[in-house]
Amino acid sequence: MNQAADPLMEVVSVGRYLPDRVVTNAELERLVDTSDEWIRERTGIRERRIADPEMGAADMGAEAAKTAICRAGIDPDQVDLILVTTATPDRLLPATAADLQLRIGATKAAAMDLAAACSGFIYGLAMAEGYLASGRGEYVLLVSTEKMSAIVDWDDRSTCVLFGDGAGAVLLRRSTNGRSGMLSNFMRSDGSLADLLYRPGGGALAPMSPDILDSKDHLVKMAGREVFKSAVRSMAEASDEALQRAGVTAGQIDLVIPHQANIRIIEATARYAGIPMDKVYVNVDRYGNMSSATIPVALDEALEEGRIEEGSLILMVAFGAGLTWASSVYRW
Ligand code: ACO
Repeated sequence: MNQAADPLMEVVSVGRYLPDRVVTNAELERLVDTSDEWIRERTGIRERRIADPEMGAADMGAEAAKTAICRAGIDPDQVDLILVTTATPDRLLPATAADLQLRIGATKAAAMDLAAACSGFIYGLAMAEGYLASGRGEYVLLVSTEKMSAIVDWDDRSTCVLFGDGAGAVLLRRSTNGRSGMLSNFMRSDGSLADLLYRPGGGALAPMSPDILDSKDHLVKMAGREVFKSAVRSMAEASDEALQRAGVTAGQIDLVIPHQANIRIIEATARYAGIPMDKVYVNVDRYGNMSSATIPVALDEALEEGRIEEGSLILMVAFGAGLTWASSVYRW
């Protein structure tokens, strides 16, 4: 199906927040049985940012959101809906979006969380588009914020080396010129693969207990190799779908912003789509996997570096726990 009519929604402004604290692979060598060489070769990661213990997902997201709001030159009161995507809510109740709403003073906004793991940002774009297109409000603030350091097992070398903390935010409104904006969006999920990447305990089904704490079942468990295979497959499908739905070819894409989990997955996705790596934005080396925050952080950096200009065609593509996968083509 080709859905490339005039775009319905556009990005007004972008913001990001990254904790100051840089944790290098060398530092992790002192924590678990790993090596800088192994981490770089298998994942492409050199370092990641880790938030201070007292800084939560709402705090990081609020910093990114304030930047986006300030750059747009609007008042926080003008935001109609706050959508927070996170796999690391500060509290199980209420939504992290409510805590963020307070921090940014968006007193007239509805606030809710969206849980689609690393695909959250692209899922969020689709939800915002529907909300805006139906005329329910003027501005949606989409914030992807992740404190992965709080949910990884720092004794498990197969997962703790992969993740990092950070937040990205975009302010969205209905497309104003009928030309720039989101051209396509594609989303899928497969719950039969949920146990490849999950936190078994601490939720409603197995509430927190001393047993869960002892077994560390409240922390991330991952079947890395299986996730890798599914990721390569789903990123390829998602790339195809977003391009086809936007009615554009891979050759027309100016910049790919993929989810930053592993450089090998990113390279496989680019190879499959036939897009050279110099058209692919990569920052997994500096931040590791910040789950849903990776794409908006990369978008903000790419804008700052002048890699996106008016008219640029961008392909965003992600996969994550669920499993979920999603993609979007956007004309700047
Ligand atoms: N340091 C040193 N050795 C390690 C480490 C480490 N940090 N971690 C694992 N190893 C060892 C393993 O124990 C294994 O040893 P063995 O052969 O003696 O058993 C060996 O390295 C190879 O392990 P594999 O898991 O086969 O390594 P692989 O090449 O698959 O790389 C990795 C592992 C990096 C996790 C990869 O599978 C991957 O990136 N998978 C995708 C993960 C991912 O993207 N997750 C995020 C999803 S997004 C979201 O929703 C959060």
